[in-house]
Amino acid sequence: MPLMPSSESRNGPIAFLDSGIGGIPYLVKLRKKLPRENYLYLADHANFPYGEKPVEKIREAVLQTTDRLLSFSRPKMIVLACNTASVSALQNLRDHVDIPVVGVVPAVKPAAHLSGERTIGVLATESTVNAPYLDSLIEQFARDFRVVRVAAGDIVAFVENRLLQSTREEQNRLVAPAIETFRRERADAVVLGCTHFTFLEENIRVLAGGAFLTVDSREGVANQSVRVLEKEGLLREEGEGSALFYTTGSRDDDYYHRIGDRFFLDFRGEAP
Ligand code: DGL
Repeated sequence: MPLMPSSESRNGPIAFLDSGIGGIPYLVKLRKKLPRENYLYLADHANFPYGEKPVEKIREAVLQTTDRLLSFSRPKMIVLACNTASVSALQNLRDHVDIPVVGVVPAVKPAAHLSGERTIGVLATESTVNAPYLDSLIEQFARDFRVVRVAAGDIVAFVENRLLQSTREEQNRLVAPAIETFRRERADAVVLGCTHFTFLEENIRVLAGGAFLTVDSREGVANQSVRVLEKEGLLREEGEGSALFYTTGSRDDDYYHRIGDRFFLDFRGEAP
């Protein structure tokens, strides 16, 4: 007879990993659906940014960060809340741990469904834009589509370091060149293929002015996470939930603290 998961494992946190703060909107989405869960967010600031690194280095960073996570916490599931990490290291991570792992990959499938022009855009990191995993998503779900790929490491760095102290105009100036490219190329559905970009989703949508729709994986990942927890008998159905926020490397400002406050995460500083 299969063993029932213990209440200890049901109380374990759902861990979210990213190179920085990008995965937070993904945690927020799942927390709305499952408010009683305990969450742990780990920003691998020591290895930020992933998107400019060779694949081998990204894999190494993901596995090292996971080992660090497992040295001080016993999560019941991991959400790899980073497209760059997921397209490079999702299978490596699944092979490395004995708990379920949910990945975040570019939402090519929904974008293809939404595109009347059969032209979609993918806005992502350099690494994701060139990833064979992205090629295979396109092959599978958007085979006869034109796909306009734009790499935007500058947007990642901006969100990670300056989002909170920036003005709306600065944010708009930053995303304008990518929007211009998608407009010119007549993409009518654009995938926000880096979790960091979801912080600027509204800016992009408003500036696009109806020229294209934006798509990301937040809803899909939250739904998939619920399905996995249900299937494994790991849902926590009573008690008050919590959300802790750690980083792998210290920063010399209080940026993460303020991000934590903004999104109701309890910032605990550098992970043990
Ligand atoms: N947030 C990550 C993603 O979804 C990338 C950020 C980085 O380059 O470190 O791709």
